[in-house]
Amino acid sequence: MIYLDNAATSLRKPDCVVQAVSEALCSLGNVGRGVNAGSLSAARVVYGTREKLSAFFGGDDPSRVCFTCNSTEALNIAIFGLLGPEDHIISTDLEHNSVLRPLYRLEDRGAALSFLAADRRGCVDYDALPGLLRPNTRAVVCTHASNLTGNALDIRRIGAFCREHGLLFILDASQTAGSFPIHVAKDNISVLCFTGHKGLMGPQGTGGLVIAPGVEIRPFKTGGTGVQSHLRAQPEAYPTRLEAGTLNGHGIAGLSAAVDFLRETGIENIHRHETALMRRFYEGVRAVPGVTVYGDFDRERAPIVTLNVGDMDSGEVSDILMEDFGIAVRSGAHCAPRMHAALGTTVQGAVRFSFGYFNTAAEADTAVRAIRSIAEE
Ligand code: ALA
Repeated sequence: MIYLDNAATSLRKPDCVVQAVSEALCSLGNVGRGVNAGSLSAARVVYGTREKLSAFFGGDDPSRVCFTCNSTEALNIAIFGLLGPEDHIISTDLEHNSVLRPLYRLEDRGAALSFLAADRRGCVDYDALPGLLRPNTRAVVCTHASNLTGNALDIRRIGAFCREHGLLFILDASQTAGSFPIHVAKDNISVLCFTGHKGLMGPQGTGGLVIAPGVEIRPFKTGGTGVQSHLRAQPEAYPTRLEAGTLNGHGIAGLSAAVDFLRETGIENIHRHETALMRRFYEGVRAVPGVTVYGDFDRERAPIVTLNVGDMDSGEVSDILMEDFGIAVRSGAHCAPRMHAALGTTVQGAVRFSFGYFNTAAEADTAVRAIRSIAEE
């Protein structure tokens, strides 16, 4: 199989990740649930991973890295723990349902939402941002890059806008963590929400929040923490403030090894390789008769190329790619309804090719030939 669905999850993981999970499965106890050797091993691994992630994302305090199962859980914690019915929130048409559905639930409770509109290429007009402000605007919640088109948002510009207007900035880095530089302090991010299993190349079931100084998120979950057990309420200090129940220690051990791999390889090298494959594929398919490619390829972007072939249903194209060519992609709606509406692909869906560090130029070329063949037929 040629795996080109890295925006959904990176299927191939670095060997060190596989080894770290395997070793953790044989040695880790439960963090904070005792002082036996297994529990202490787990505590060391988990705290060490907080330290690595804090440094990796420009955080100022490892205890402000809180673990979750994925970015959806992190976004729910940030959105419901910081925002309420009295607030107005700005978001964008690029969002995944992991941002949209929590925001719509807040809207049902009385909050007001405004969306920075995307055009037919999936681009936004940043000059429209000030016009969306209201006296009760509290936050901008947005993705770093669309999971559908790959278009990246200018988070430095959005961060500066938030700083200027005293807004919280909640960033969904699902499609960029691990291959784009992201710095919580320099980019004025209040809460960075990340998943471990995509560009970070860690195991599924890992993710988290990196929380800037002074940002106090109301606990979303309550339960066992292993500390302050006689309190009725969730402990106030991070990270236990946002972590209830047993952590995914085995997954976090794998994520720790993944961050080591990213640092040793260099995220700029990863970004360069993935971008080269994405552009190679784009150049190969953009002019094929009958093929429509979506998105803006004139700017920095995530390694995603999304297209349609004539008026063929996107699911049919992806089935042919898998069955006849052994190529794995994602079709349909991609949990991104506003983005599909902006592109005009709500009914047809679209076929998404997303490249990862372990893909090769030969695989990109095979995918080009497959699309040419389907379009010719
Ligand atoms: N959000 C993931 C995707 O875009 C699963 O495929």
